[in-house]
Amino acid sequence: MLIEGEPRRTIWLAGDGRRVEIIDQTRLPHEFVIATLDTLEDAARAIEQMQVRGAPLIGATAAYGICLALAEDASDEALERACARLLRTRPTAVNLHWAIEDMRRRLAGLPPDARVAAAYARAAEICEEDVAICRAIGDHGLELIRTIAAAKPAGEPVNILTHCNAGWLATIDWGTATAPIYRAQQEGIAVHVWVDETRPRNQGAALTAFELLHQGVPHTVIVDNVGGHLMQHGMVDLCITGTDRTTRTGDVANKIGTYLKALAARDNGVPFYVALPSPTIDWRIGDGIREIPIEQRDPREVTEITGTTADGRIETVRLTPAGSPAANYAFDVTPARCVTGLITERGVCPASAEGLAALFPERAGAAADAG
Ligand code: MRU
Repeated sequence: MLIEGEPRRTIWLAGDGRRVEIIDQTRLPHEFVIATLDTLEDAARAIEQMQVRGAPLIGATAAYGICLALAEDASDEALERACARLLRTRPTAVNLHWAIEDMRRRLAGLPPDARVAAAYARAAEICEEDVAICRAIGDHGLELIRTIAAAKPAGEPVNILTHCNAGWLATIDWGTATAPIYRAQQEGIAVHVWVDETRPRNQGAALTAFELLHQGVPHTVIVDNVGGHLMQHGMVDLCITGTDRTTRTGDVANKIGTYLKALAARDNGVPFYVALPSPTIDWRIGDGIREIPIEQRDPREVTEITGTTADGRIETVRLTPAGSPAANYAFDVTPARCVTGLITERGVCPASAEGLAALFPERAGAAADAG
């Protein structure tokens, strides 16, 4: 996707073929800064501090973190240490576990001197697979948008509400929730996106708005509490969000506040879809509310806010009384019953065990065999 008209991805190999470069997302939308990851620790910190974020991109960064670790020491112990370090970075997005397990499984059986090349090859493949998956999600989601557009008066845009950033900045390219939007734009279907700001870290206001602006997609940033009002007044045709972990039964963990949007959508008869690549499905678990670990982050993300001043300085200011405690739950779980459908790379299915099993019979079958 484009920044200043130039095609970009979120993560790539540096010119030396060893180090890894990323867009530092903590600096957006105010500054475009490329950061270089030189070591395992750089990769782990980039995930923890959210220089990279979004479930698929966290997984890809972890895969490259293993490459960086093995480039220094390709022993069994170093591989295990790298996996353990990266697993501790963030708890909710299951793509992290998926990518680390995938790398470990492929690399552990190789002799140490074959591991580095194999690790870099697999990390690059994970990135390419993600691009292809997101593009396919876009094609399937496009049909939903096309159907809604056909039922609207000619020229009226399809109004889509999204939460957080499940855009290309959260993946390698295209995004999950945004892929159908970008495909609709390519097909000449008029769309307008309501962008939830997504406090406390403002991934909507900072990142989704940045993406859509650079991509030329009409959009409006709204505060998190506006969605229900818009839905009551017929101003939202469709909600599409991403997810950090979806159970085999279709419960969906996503950025805090997603659940409330799904409730409002249900009350107002607005279709609420969740777009996800299959590595986001946790086939081991069936009860999202009880079994998905919910990250709690630094309360200062709630008590403070960062932005640019009129003269271009980036400043952080306090919002709350100094003595008031704050809690910072980063994700919530939307039960499958509140989700109209899941948009995956293999098609759209009901948010249910049967729906997911019909699209991914081999994964559902393996999960059932594992008990
Ligand atoms: O805390 P973040 O910014 O990593 O949370 C990101 C989200 O909640 C996204 O919606 C999710 O990862 C899906 S990304 C395609």
